Amino acid sequence: MPNAASADLAAMNDTLRAVAALPEHAARCLPGRFYTDPDYFRYEVETFLSKEWHCLGRADEIPNPGDYFTTRLFDEPLLVVRGEDGAVRVLSNVCRHRGMPLAETSGSARRFVCSYHAWSYDRAGRLINAPRMRDKGVTAETCRLPSFPSEIWNGFIYANLDPDARPLTPRLGQLAALLGNYDTAGMRIVRSFEEEWRTNWKCLVENFMEAYHLSVVHPQTLHPYTPTGLSRKSMSDDAFTSYCANYPDTAASRGVGAPALSDEERRRSTLFCVFPAQVASQAATLLVSLSIQPLAVDRIKLRWTMSTYGDELSRDDLESRISLWHEVNREDREKLERMQRALSSRHALSGPLAPGDYEGTIWDFQRYLGRQIPAAG
Ligand code: FES
Ligand SMILES: [Fe+2]
Repeated sequence: MPNAASADLAAMNDTLRAVAALPEHAARCLPGRFYTDPDYFRYEVETFLSKEWHCLGRADEIPNPGDYFTTRLFDEPLLVVRGEDGAVRVLSNVCRHRGMPLAETSGSARRFVCSYHAWSYDRAGRLINAPRMRDKGVTAETCRLPSFPSEIWNGFIYANLDPDARPLTPRLGQLAALLGNYDTAGMRIVRSFEEEWRTNWKCLVENFMEAYHLSVVHPQTLHPYTPTGLSRKSMSDDAFTSYCANYPDTAASRGVGAPALSDEERRRSTLFCVFPAQVASQAATLLVSLSIQPLAVDRIKLRWTMSTYGDELSRDDLESRISLWHEVNREDREKLERMQRALSSRHALSGPLAPGDYEGTIWDFQRYLGRQIPAAG
């Protein structure tokens, strides 16, 4: 006999399958429980979130050999470091002796010396020295820092905790074509920020990826450039979804950007989600990417980076774009944190989604979620 929790889980998965199977014109949102049930959150982490690719940052955050930053994915402390060979590696940030983190925050190091008993590792995670450990079987082979699968795509660093993960990059071909003229890989990071929000991770994915709220929630900040009415759904595939937020003719130019861009591409922002938890906005001169780390059913850590194309934006332009994004994020956060508190209501049911150009990306996301759970039966 299944217990109550597993019966609930089976019922929720039935609901998800049913929602994900709706045709686009009849799409509906997921009931509130998907965003508030701690058991369902744990289930998501175990079944797919901890086995998926997550964006950790930009490769030009660590341009030189020895440059590193630290981060976490679920239970794993990570050390992201550029090696002598120029490759970026994602290593376990846990000493092989008794588990001390080897590095904090970011910096540059010739080698990583543990602060507890001074074991040291090179930039590829090989043990170099372990004081007073002769004849203890401690060798470079037995005590190497484990490394996790990682890939660089368009300048983003992705990592996966699953050693058998299916590669990500080959599945992003259509998205690469959509972004092809922007020179996303060549954009240069100018700032990064970390925040904690009281929202379910899916709420921020859905919020960032739907244009329906833009003119309502962002009347001063985004509506003048990316009004809801001009937004158009774009490509999607198993691994991503996207839409184009087109600028009105009356909007001032947002910059020229890469030489290959068409006028149309210069007059829109392309918003994309690499499933499950990276959302980003690509414009001619600005790339903003949000890495969403789910911490609990109602809590996320958000790391966002801002990159620019060449030197086109003046320092003042840049500062005003940064303030604009802070304000946009503040506006979204206020909505999502309030909504999170209402989503545990028994009346937070499955409302209808707006037409495809405005909320069709949520339908794509639901179908992605549906593919992560076992088939019915
Ligand atoms: S825990 Fe790192 S050397 Fe002891
Ligand atoms: Fe928003």
